[in-house]
Amino acid sequence: MSSQIDHLLTETRRFAPSAEFAAQANAHADLYEAAAQDREAFWAEQARALHWHTPFTKNLDWSNPPFATWFEDGELNVAYNCLDRHVEAGLGDRVALLWEGEPGDERRVTYAELTDEVKRLANVLTDLGVEAGDRVAIYLPMIPEAVASMLAVARIGAIHSVVFGGFSADSLRSRIDDAGAKLVITSDGGYRKGKASPLKPAVDQALADRGHGPQETVEHVLVVKRTDTEVSWQDGRDLWWHDLVPAASADHVAQPFPAENPLFILYTSGTTGKPKGILHTSGGYLTQAAFTNKVVHDLHAETDVYWCTADIGWITGHTYVTYGPLANGATQVIYEGTPDTPHPGRWWEIVAKYGVTILYTAPTAIRSFMKLGRSIPEQHDLSSLRLLGSVGEPINPEAWMWYRHVIGGDTAPIVDTWWQTETGAIMVSALPGVTETKPGSAQVPLPGISVDVVDEKGEVVGNGNGGLLVLTEPWPSMLRGIWGDPERFKETYWDKFADLGYYFAGDGARLDEDGDVWFLGRVDDVMNVSGHRLSTTEIESALVGNEAVAEAAVVGASDETTGQAVVAFCVIKESYMKANPLEGLVDTLRAWVGEQIGPIARPRDVYIVTELPKTRSGKIMRRLLRDVAEGREVGDTTTLADTMVMSTIKGQVTKK
Ligand code: PRX
Repeated sequence: MSSQIDHLLTETRRFAPSAEFAAQANAHADLYEAAAQDREAFWAEQARALHWHTPFTKNLDWSNPPFATWFEDGELNVAYNCLDRHVEAGLGDRVALLWEGEPGDERRVTYAELTDEVKRLANVLTDLGVEAGDRVAIYLPMIPEAVASMLAVARIGAIHSVVFGGFSADSLRSRIDDAGAKLVITSDGGYRKGKASPLKPAVDQALADRGHGPQETVEHVLVVKRTDTEVSWQDGRDLWWHDLVPAASADHVAQPFPAENPLFILYTSGTTGKPKGILHTSGGYLTQAAFTNKVVHDLHAETDVYWCTADIGWITGHTYVTYGPLANGATQVIYEGTPDTPHPGRWWEIVAKYGVTILYTAPTAIRSFMKLGRSIPEQHDLSSLRLLGSVGEPINPEAWMWYRHVIGGDTAPIVDTWWQTETGAIMVSALPGVTETKPGSAQVPLPGISVDVVDEKGEVVGNGNGGLLVLTEPWPSMLRGIWGDPERFKETYWDKFADLGYYFAGDGARLDEDGDVWFLGRVDDVMNVSGHRLSTTEIESALVGNEAVAEAAVVGASDETTGQAVVAFCVIKESYMKANPLEGLVDTLRAWVGEQIGPIARPRDVYIVTELPKTRSGKIMRRLLRDVAEGREVGDTTTLADTMVMSTIKGQVTKK
């Protein structure tokens, strides 16, 4: 890591916006001035770009920190803002979704059609007894029904909890339990890597397992037919989408809901084993989603073809597939499958086919394309691209330069956008057309956002120094809490700098001589693998749940492609070793984690060791294990209870 940081800090390349880009950009330098003069008035002005059934008169209420409200006395309907108002403005024929399935099937969905579908589904949900405030779990592949489901739930004032389709039955169950979902929307499956990958069986298993959990809350499972694979069926509980939705009425008047009406819960990994249900509400969230999509992605809805490659199971898919772009009336590409199916140029083929102008993706994807070589993208016409975005993890200058040169033809500005599930929308980024960009730095807080880099005591470190990133003022799309756990909300984000009222993001950062922010990765036990957040503790508890494992320690080790990779150290039970051979156990444990949490959590390496490095008080020293996993000289071991343990572990790891 330190050599990487040194490298970042010697980066001197700079790219000023072209006059041509600046002339048409949505962003202007005066946004910073307006926000600096009156931050709350600035956000109120952005909020007024939405349709309010009842206009708000209050901006921020921060009288009970850390619980904020924004635009509290206003009323709106989030789905109306994303759909009906565009149709009413005469834009019903504009394509909202340019959808492409992995097998090559296509659907073009206009704003009028999507509005219609959402109205029908809203009626179906109401008929099934879903009311404002109820929770609906969504477990779907990237198909238009996924976006429609989110919007229909929002339309009736209910709360969605989208669970990434790559998560296991077990992860799905714990999320359904925690939220107390009344309905699950799923499909028979989706296409991934050239074949139909089932989803419904995981829902069946999750609901069957719930027999052991708290009281059953799920009344129905609504199933989209996507892959036409056989599914097991529970009469009375399971319902086909195609039986109900097309037959439902397309008349549905969107009711207004208070600005602080909960919109969704999205689970994300924290430092403990239990994922946190991050809660977002309506007015402030939609305001910042729409505003940032417009100025950071420079979205011109009339002419752009926008493509954010994120799955709706992640916050990026919520804010920059569903809510931001649709609130802005954008035309966007949605692709169901994997980037390399059926060939490694699939993404670039899609860019050329639809004339994508704005591409928003993750550094991991860029690095894996880089590995494959420029000859693949070079086979496709990428000249339509005029803006590139990066999100999810730090982008190294090499990948940034490759992205600019090979994908962006040396002209498209790159915005490296820092934010989190908790922040709801982009917080730190260059403004295209305004900011001179630097490869590797996320750069500056957006207008209306206040960040700082501080030391452990909360003192500002100043330019040229590193520390912890904090957000010093509330922002409209901030999380409003952790579902069902206000104490954990306070503890996780606010207690560290309680006297100062700062939000602690969990990221290390450095300010360069110009005051630009360089993100340096997480400072807690959260890993970032391919831009996905994973908790070391969650994977450790999955491992010790296996009959063979007595103790486990997991670290995130640097990885050239995925940023970090999961590396596990396991101590095996004596009783297990007596009765079973160790051959094959490493593969079994890797697969086990995949089944317990989901394939993204599967460790790259599992090392069987006889001991773990612990302090005298019994705390596992993951820092030392990270040294081993990254093949470095092991750091200071003086606080270990047994200072010899590291050489034993090193021997066991290298022997493998
Ligand atoms: O460590 C930061 C990293 O991703 C974390 C948030 O993960 P998640 O909630 O899953 O949201 C990801 C998509 C917004 C952050 O705490 N991160 C995100 N974007 C960047 C980043 N690190 C560096 N640079 C970024 N642009």
